[in-house]
Amino acid sequence: MAEAETYNEALRPQFHFSPMKNWTNDPNGLVFLDGEYHLFFQHNPEGINWGNMTWGHAVSPDLVRWTQLDHAIYPDELGTIFSGSAVVDVNNTAGFQTGDQKVIVAIYTSHGPEAKPDPKPATQSIAYSNDRGRTWEKYDGNPVLDHVIGGNRDPKVIWHEPTGKWVMALYLDADDYALFGSPDLKEWTKLSDLKLPGDSECPDIFELAVDGDANNKKWVFWGGSGTYLIGSFDGVTFTPETDVLAAELGCNGYAAQSYSDIPAEDGRRIQISWLNGGTYHGMPFNQQMSFPVEITLRTLPEGIRMCRRPVCEIETIRAKEQKWEGVSLNPGDDPLADIKGELFDIRAEIEPTGASFEISVGGRVVRYDSAREELICPGFAKWRAPLRLVDGRVKVQILVDRTSLEICGNDGEASMTYFCVPDQSKPILSITAAGGPVNVVSLEVHELKSAWFDR
Ligand code: FRU
Repeated sequence: MAEAETYNEALRPQFHFSPMKNWTNDPNGLVFLDGEYHLFFQHNPEGINWGNMTWGHAVSPDLVRWTQLDHAIYPDELGTIFSGSAVVDVNNTAGFQTGDQKVIVAIYTSHGPEAKPDPKPATQSIAYSNDRGRTWEKYDGNPVLDHVIGGNRDPKVIWHEPTGKWVMALYLDADDYALFGSPDLKEWTKLSDLKLPGDSECPDIFELAVDGDANNKKWVFWGGSGTYLIGSFDGVTFTPETDVLAAELGCNGYAAQSYSDIPAEDGRRIQISWLNGGTYHGMPFNQQMSFPVEITLRTLPEGIRMCRRPVCEIETIRAKEQKWEGVSLNPGDDPLADIKGELFDIRAEIEPTGASFEISVGGRVVRYDSAREELICPGFAKWRAPLRLVDGRVKVQILVDRTSLEICGNDGEASMTYFCVPDQSKPILSITAAGGPVNVVSLEVHELKSAWFDR
């Protein structure tokens, strides 16, 4: 199939990654090397539904324009290839580097229950690439971590500078996780156990500056459903300092992972989720990734919280802009009534002055209730997020693609990911006030280009 047809089907996301064909779920092995963001992903090379898990592979220079490459890691006698992570082994601790090119090491679950011909428990394995991820060798000493318990899986590995070792966060069973340590990615010993009550699968662990202050850093432990703990980590034990908090308040963000090896001069922590759920009738592919978000820790009135907002690279696919500033929006007014298009980045800063407002996209409503200080998305199973007024104002950003709405309140204080196909019989966009006029401090509607066809 020609690329033009491949990436322009009716339900093909235009600025989100989806595989050319067949099933995908979790993002895996998110790592940056030599100007390329790698996105490996759970993929079924043979079918439109989950199965035969294999690591697919795509690369991007900017987190927006993706090019799918050949599959990276295929099932073997240890099992199918479940989720995991990747790192650049900068100091060649594993000894896999063969030339000048830095080596990428992937750490993944060998899902033994599906091993052919001999099913076995799930274990953790590694593979490496000396050519920027184009070809892969599996380590001949696999697995590197034997079965611990149950369906243990989804290793996320980081380099822990203060103690000079690799640390692996691993999902064990129920809501139990554990941390392991290694000098060389090959030999792992258990460091500690931890729980993320109510969550399971796909852990992540990372350190972030609070309010951008490099002298005040906290660690975050993250689980598959987008809940997290903030605390400290001494290289052995993660000690939570909060209850379980939720960063993903929509229905369809799952199994998010953050990038490894983002250069220090960039310094961002960037996360991609599986945009889990939804139906892609008649499409050659099934499921997609979220738009990447930058995550930060900020001090809010209720304490330190994770904030998530779309990465600024979204601005590289802007096509047309319409902007309003300092206008009063009365009930019945709708400055967006004549807008055409299908892909948008909408950014509104509104002073509701006691009234409420609604932005709708193809009939799907995003309402701000100023009395309750809540963002409400009626009709979805998870539909509300607290969103405070700051100096009487609130900010709402909505990314609109063919099959998704990604909503960000107050530069990331609220983050909601939805599978959503705008109803084409309804107005494309609208913004209206309810219960009185609201002040539009600023309203920007950026029509976006397709990332597949803008290279
Ligand atoms: C999460 C998950 C992981 C597992 C993978 C299998 O969505 O269930 O725990 O490794 O998907 O595809």
